Amino acid sequence: MSLLQAGMGGVAGAELACAVSNAGAAGCAGGYKLVDGALSALLDRLTAGTDRPVGLNLIPEVVGPDELDRQVAQVLDETPERVYVSLFGMPDDDAVFERVVAAGRRLVVQVGTVEDGARAAEWGAVVVAQGIEAGGHLLGRSQRDELIAALRAQLPDACLAAAGGIGSPAEAARAVAAGADGVLLGTAFVVAHESRAHSYFKAAVTTADGADTVITDLYEIGWPGRRHRVLSTAVTRDPGQAKTFIGRTVVEGKPYLVPRFSSAVPTDATSGRIEEMAMYCGLSCGAISDEISAADVVAEFARVLPSAEVVENKRRMESNVRR
Ligand SMILES: Cc1cc2nc3c(=O)[nH]c(=O)nc-3n(C[C@H](O)[C@H](O)[C@H](O)COP(=O)(O)O)c2cc1C
Repeated sequence: MSLLQAGMGGVAGAELACAVSNAGAAGCAGGYKLVDGALSALLDRLTAGTDRPVGLNLIPEVVGPDELDRQVAQVLDETPERVYVSLFGMPDDDAVFERVVAAGRRLVVQVGTVEDGARAAEWGAVVVAQGIEAGGHLLGRSQRDELIAALRAQLPDACLAAAGGIGSPAEAARAVAAGADGVLLGTAFVVAHESRAHSYFKAAVTTADGADTVITDLYEIGWPGRRHRVLSTAVTRDPGQAKTFIGRTVVEGKPYLVPRFSSAVPTDATSGRIEEMAMYCGLSCGAISDEISAADVVAEFARVLPSAEVVENKRRMESNVRR
């Protein structure tokens, strides 16, 4: 099915990714900064939890080229071929794409510009076009459907998914009408039962609408220099506060202190001043009012999305017509 779940660091663990894949869509776990034993533990749970295709998301600009290489090597060495690699943003050079593709893995790359989309499409990647309606870090400055339309005009044969602000099947249908083959959802899965988002964060998403979100660059500790859309908080309203610790969290068994302005999302293992932490959230929240199971989210959107088979046939026919 042409529905992808965003691999959200901290929020999308193996449980959410596997539930989505088992429901027939493309689940994805957030790899974020995990390496070595911590990444292996996640990969083990991911492959044990589903027999279907499922992904691992990595963020080139957060870890840098050497660490990214190590993470990719681990995925390729430790998982079966059905585990796909999802990248948020572009790596420094194309060697990473080459390596993933040479290993027979499917590649999903989220981009914010036509130029980056064209570069990823050269490697046969599923190109996810992210608009500024999106929750989380923002890769570009375009509206979602403008970017999709521009990418479609330049890449008639590419497999394109739209991301940003999609909280209802009607909005997904609009993205498909603009030229997308499918959609990628983040915020809609934050509130899933299987998501590891903190209960305060989930509840806040269900009651918020788009006007409760802001684009800022304040939550920069751990991921500097990229704008992000979050729920507005006391921190975004009054950025002059001290960079003191405001909570604690645990990631793959290791404890951490959470400073104010940390890029880390509050999870079910986080305590402290949750209401001041980075609650990434898209304009999609306006259409999301209930915490439901991942399978129910998938079923809701499946109604309006073309099946993967239909997308593949359509692309094949269109490229035949042009030959
Ligand atoms: C809580 C949260 C965490 C996110 N973390 C990541 C991440 O680790 N990697 C990634 O590729 N995208 C991440 N994203 C961005 C999504 O990939 C996607 O662009 C966005 O969720 C789409 O907009 P929507 O939230 O309105 O559906 C995150 C989004 C949210 C809401």
